[in-house]
Amino acid sequence: MTAPRVGSVLSVRDLEVRYRGPDGDVCAVDGVSFDVRPGEVLGLAGESGSGKSTLAHAALRLLRPPAVITRGEVWIDGEDVLALGPGGLARLRWRTASIVLQNALDALNPVLTVHEQLADTLRAHAPFPNARAARLRAEELLALVGLGEDTLDRWPHQLSGGQRQRVNIALALALRPKLVVMDEPTTALDVVVQRELLQRVLQLRDALGFAVLFITHDLPLLFDLADRVGVLYAGRLAELGPAAAMRENPAHPYTRGLLRAMPPLTGPRRPLAGIPGAPPDPAHPLPGCRFAPRCAVAAARCRTEVPFAHAVGPGWRAACHAAPGLPATRSP
Ligand SMILES: Nc1ncnc2c1ncn2[C@@H]1O[C@H](COP(=O)(O)OP(=O)(O)OP(=O)(O)O)[C@@H](O)[C@H]1O
Ligand SMILES: [Mg+2]
Repeated sequence: MTAPRVGSVLSVRDLEVRYRGPDGDVCAVDGVSFDVRPGEVLGLAGESGSGKSTLAHAALRLLRPPAVITRGEVWIDGEDVLALGPGGLARLRWRTASIVLQNALDALNPVLTVHEQLADTLRAHAPFPNARAARLRAEELLALVGLGEDTLDRWPHQLSGGQRQRVNIALALALRPKLVVMDEPTTALDVVVQRELLQRVLQLRDALGFAVLFITHDLPLLFDLADRVGVLYAGRLAELGPAAAMRENPAHPYTRGLLRAMPPLTGPRRPLAGIPGAPPDPAHPLPGCRFAPRCAVAAARCRTEVPFAHAVGPGWRAACHAAPGLPATRSP
């Protein structure tokens, strides 16, 4: 068995998640390993269906049937998450690690005011001497995410999408967790609001010191704002490394393709080039590299041999036979 990296707030090791079905399994996450260090922002990008939400839910044990974790380990703040019982999981969630869900715009209870939702979460986990103390803490939390005290007595339908999302982030921060997972918290918002929200999260991270696993389709946003970036393709990590180095010189052909497919927010306009072809059907996995049918530099070997991770640079690896760098290690 492997061990968590000392000092990591989240360690995922060789994780495999399958969806069971009448016609066989769909392997949605296939041998993924990575760490999130205290206080860092790790961005995770990949096309729709690449397994981002499945991975996030597996890490916090939020998966529901037919999903099953069939291999691997998850450690959060030194705890073996896959071995935790219901009591341990209840302690872990919100207190040590929290999540802003992908469809979080609809996650607030429509019949509770913002204050009632915040107070419920606070009271469920921490005793407050009186209602006034809970209200003050709720006010403080809203101020953290840039919302005024007047928001407290509003109902979700009276808030804009961006405001509702800020309330969700306040809820996720309510118990001062060490890790906050944000699963595309901003897909329903426009790109400018998305960028502003992530910038706000970064300020909060600087002030409060929590780590963030930030999931999005928007790879350029991650290159601008995350410390490190992971790129998922068809359930496997194609590349993981420091944002600045990866942005300058992406090692995996898929990362390069994703970048070319996204419009830059600033700088000269250029024609967008999508990645030809479509992601593979996860019910019928290909041998070798899953990106090979869409890859401009694929060789015969890529269609038969799974590429293991190559160290491309310090703290930077790419699962590609053609990637430059050191000899392959055993972990994909
Ligand atoms: N309940 C389910 N039953 C069967 N397969 C599922 C189920 N949920 C997800 N999958 C499959 O698992 C794979 C990964 O899905 P997942 O939702 O994790 O992707 P994602 O990267 O989060 O996509 P998106 O960007 O659209 O949110 C997909 O192929 C999907 O079809
Ligand atoms: Mg998702």
